Amino acid sequence: MKQVFDKYSKYYDLIYQGKDYKKEEKFIEEVIKKFSPIKVENILSIGCGTCSYETILAKNGFKITGIDQSQTMLDLAQKKINEQKLKNKIKLIKADARNFRVDEKFDAVMEMFNIIGYHTTNDDLNKVLNNINKSLKINGIFFFDCWYLPAVLKDRPTDKIKEIQSEEKRIIRKTQSRLHVKKNVIEIKFTIDYIEKNKVVEKTKEIHLVRYWSLPELEYILNSNGFNMVKAGNFLDINTPPSENNWDIFIVAKKVK
Ligand SMILES: C[S@@+](CC[C@H](N)C(=O)[O-])C[C@H]1O[C@@H](n2cnc3c(N)ncnc32)[C@H](O)[C@@H]1O
Repeated sequence: MKQVFDKYSKYYDLIYQGKDYKKEEKFIEEVIKKFSPIKVENILSIGCGTCSYETILAKNGFKITGIDQSQTMLDLAQKKINEQKLKNKIKLIKADARNFRVDEKFDAVMEMFNIIGYHTTNDDLNKVLNNINKSLKINGIFFFDCWYLPAVLKDRPTDKIKEIQSEEKRIIRKTQSRLHVKKNVIEIKFTIDYIEKNKVVEKTKEIHLVRYWSLPELEYILNSNGFNMVKAGNFLDINTPPSENNWDIFIVAKKVK
């Protein structure tokens, strides 16, 4: 069965070539240092995609297991891991976050770049959190970034066009968004035109459903699955509390039972 990102994956690293994974990885290390009561050596990354965070974390000494449901994203990740000689530091598993099993217990678990938004129903998120709880050591932290409801409702999504030029290649990504306010979900339709010598040589379409969250609902669902929310801040600025002026927030939770 085709998963979201299966078609998108081909262009993923090109589209996000401007995303500062190095700076964001530093932020992750700061979060671990500040909030983990236990020493973090191994990390489980759910929705690892093409492993842009994980390769940096591995070079900085962490052992990583990455899980993703998209085989095409994992193939690109494996290529990167092989090229960067990180085979003994990063292990990949193809699985859905709602029903994966791992035989190890991890010091920390992460879902980075709005993966939690892809768990669009309460039932989905309950299953994912239950699995994460089973994979994490007691007092281990689980952290993630996500979209914040008050900000999404104040500054509603608009249609966008992004153009990326790299050597001979040009990509035009059109994003059309529709808000489903009763479900706290944004339906995002991506159309990607891949252009060579001024000619569209490939056209790809994919629809993503992404949920946005309020703090009380996250707190409730984390508590019901054995976690305490220990910090809610802005993504890349953990000490500033979430506000309606910023979509991207960051949550740190700790496994308490
Ligand atoms: C926005 S990408 C983020 C990838 C990567 N973490 C990054 O920062 O570049 C979302 C990833 O989550 C994966 N994903 C979405 N839902 C998933 C699920 N239920 N189980 C496993 N992976 C999932 C997708 O396949 C995709 O690779």
